[in-house]
Amino acid sequence: MNDKETLIKMDMGALRGDVVTDDGILCLGIESSCDETSAAIVDSNRNVLAHIIYSQIPEHQKYGGVVPELAARAHILAIDMVIAQTLSAAGKTIDDIDVVAATAGPGLIGGVLVGWLAATGIAQSAGKPLVAVNHLEGHALVPRLHAAAADGSDLASGVPFPYLLMLASGGHCQILLVRGVGDYELIGQTLDDSAGEAFDKVAKMLGLDYPGGPVVDARAKNGNPHVFNFPRPLCDKPGCDFSFSGIKTAARTFLSRVDVPYSDTFINDFCASFQASVVDCITNRLEHAMRDARVRAASPQTLVVAGGVAKNSAIRTAMEELAASHNMTFAAPPMNLCTDNGAMIAWAGIENYREGNVVTEPIAPRPRWPLTELKRT
Ligand code: KG4
Ligand code: ZN
Repeated sequence: MNDKETLIKMDMGALRGDVVTDDGILCLGIESSCDETSAAIVDSNRNVLAHIIYSQIPEHQKYGGVVPELAARAHILAIDMVIAQTLSAAGKTIDDIDVVAATAGPGLIGGVLVGWLAATGIAQSAGKPLVAVNHLEGHALVPRLHAAAADGSDLASGVPFPYLLMLASGGHCQILLVRGVGDYELIGQTLDDSAGEAFDKVAKMLGLDYPGGPVVDARAKNGNPHVFNFPRPLCDKPGCDFSFSGIKTAARTFLSRVDVPYSDTFINDFCASFQASVVDCITNRLEHAMRDARVRAASPQTLVVAGGVAKNSAIRTAMEELAASHNMTFAAPPMNLCTDNGAMIAWAGIENYREGNVVTEPIAPRPRWPLTELKRT
């Protein structure tokens, strides 16, 4: 056991290990892995009773990105208030809660520890079961809590398994075959930057605010995507992997030849052209994924996008068209459930609790925790 594990080792004796299998489960979910301190109370009938997201974005904006130490401190200052306000907004006390769930990784470990230790303390003192949620699984399963289908399909009971998932966030970019809770097959992933990182870095080069994704998305709406010829890395290659570092380098090279300040038209065209290349990469790689033998064998009926980048309007539109052309339903979570939030952790908590995945012994939160390691035999 290393020092970090010793530090967070605690007696889990007070935790209840029994699992309620009937409906009506009420879960308190806590998220703190990056720059949002969030809590939500969600029930197993897909009602979000209360949801509070305290965003630290203003605190990190002046640095152009998340500063891990500042994030951890801000989580410490906010966490108790966020949890208390969530319980109060739902009109519940901790006694009413059936299960507590919190992100236990992957993410910025200082922040993850804050939320995880808060959840552990609450669960232990109140004698409630505790679920250690993988943050990526939160993103991956939230379309089963709430999602809208582009073709009007009824998703009132959530997106059914299996589905083909484009998971694109600030930290990750993966195509996954989602077979069930804890059962993820990695079909493709980025070899370097995530899609969100590419948006954030290009925005920074243009002098735009952090996080860059929403700003680039908005600017692109008024721009011409054909002005700059960005590369489409790997699109001429087989497979389903991504590479965004070449797009970023192309952006830097273009900008080195242009005098500042950039005009509004220039920024809009630049954003539209950059975004078009990201969209093309995503659709190209998803098309390959649909031809992948594992995906064909599983025959998923739904194409899903999740993670912060799922807010992007052009990506949603392109994926909707792609799904339609392959006779698939396209589904996406509502905007507030794309970026980091406590409701997705509460929902993943419920889905795992139903499977009996509760913490029964001390665990070490993990800065890295691939989804493919969740599979239980
Ligand atoms: O899922 P998320 O909140 O955090 C991580 O788990 O990483 O994703 C944040 C990322 C940021 O990179 C942000 O720029 C990006 O999502 N993002 C967007 C949009 N809204 C947020 N990217 C493209 N278009 C958007 N509209
Ligand atoms: Zn996330």
